[in-house]
Amino acid sequence: DVLEGRPLDLAGRHVVVSAGGTREFLDPVRFLGNRSSGRQGFALAAAAVARGARVTVVAANVELPAPAGVDVVRVVSTEQLRQQVLLAAEGADAVVMAAAPADFRPAQFVDAKIKKTPDGATPEIRLVENPDILVELVGARAGAAPVIVGFAAETGDATATVIEHARAKLARKGCDLLVVNDVSDGKAFGRDDNEAVLLGADGSVVEVPLGPKTALAHAVWDAVVQRLD
Ligand code: CTP
Ligand code: CA
Repeated sequence: DVLEGRPLDLAGRHVVVSAGGTREFLDPVRFLGNRSSGRQGFALAAAAVARGARVTVVAANVELPAPAGVDVVRVVSTEQLRQQVLLAAEGADAVVMAAAPADFRPAQFVDAKIKKTPDGATPEIRLVENPDILVELVGARAGAAPVIVGFAAETGDATATVIEHARAKLARKGCDLLVVNDVSDGKAFGRDDNEAVLLGADGSVVEVPLGPKTALAHAVWDAVVQRLD
C-alpha cells in the first residue's frame, strides 16, 4: 500500500488541484473538448487528504465521484476554471494544475443550435486563445508561495525529444515543477496507471515508473513537500 507509513506532511496546508478537461461550447449542444478524465487530478486530491491537507479540487467535466474529504468546485470552461482556481489559490500553499484546459474557444457562442444549410455549405468556426492559468498563477504569486506544479502531455517530434519540449515548457511557464507524460502512443488517457518524469525548475529530474495514479500523486506531493518552506 502506497499510503502505509506516510507522514501527515501536508497537515495544516491548503492545496488546490485542478482536474479534468475543459469544454468550450459552440452552441447549446456542441463543444470543443479533450480526453482528460480527471483520474490523475482526483488521485492527487485523495493523496493530499491522506497526507493531512485541506484540499480544494476544481474539476472540469469530471465524471467521477469526488474523493472523500475534498472540497470540489465543478466547472465547464477554461474561463470558469481560471476564475475558480485563482480564487482557491489565494493563501494556498500549493497549486497543482493537472487539468487540461482547452487552449482555444470559439470566438462566439451561438444561442440556437447551428443547423445544416440546404446548400451544404460548411460552417467556419473562428477560435480565440484562452488565458494561460498556470502563467497567471506564477505571475500572481507573492514570494515563494504557493508552490506551483504544471502537467504536460508531450510527444517527441523531429525538432525535440519529449524531455526537451518539457524543459522548454517549464521555462516558459515559470512554475516550480512540471509533471511530464509521454503520450506518443496514446498512453495515459482514461487509464488507472501512469508513468512520468518530474522536472524541477532547479534542474532536478525524478523518474516515476509505470504504476497506479496514486503512486504518481504521492511522488508529486513528495516533490511539493520538499519545496514548502
Ligand atoms: N494550462 C493552463 N492554462 C491553459 C493551458 C494550460 O493553466 N490555458 C496548464 C495545464 O493545466 C498544464 C500546463 O499548463 O498544467 C501545461 O499544459 P499544456 O497544454 O501542456 O501547455 P500549453 O502551454 O497549452 O502548450 P501546448 O501548446 O503544448 O498545448
Ligand atoms: Ca494546451
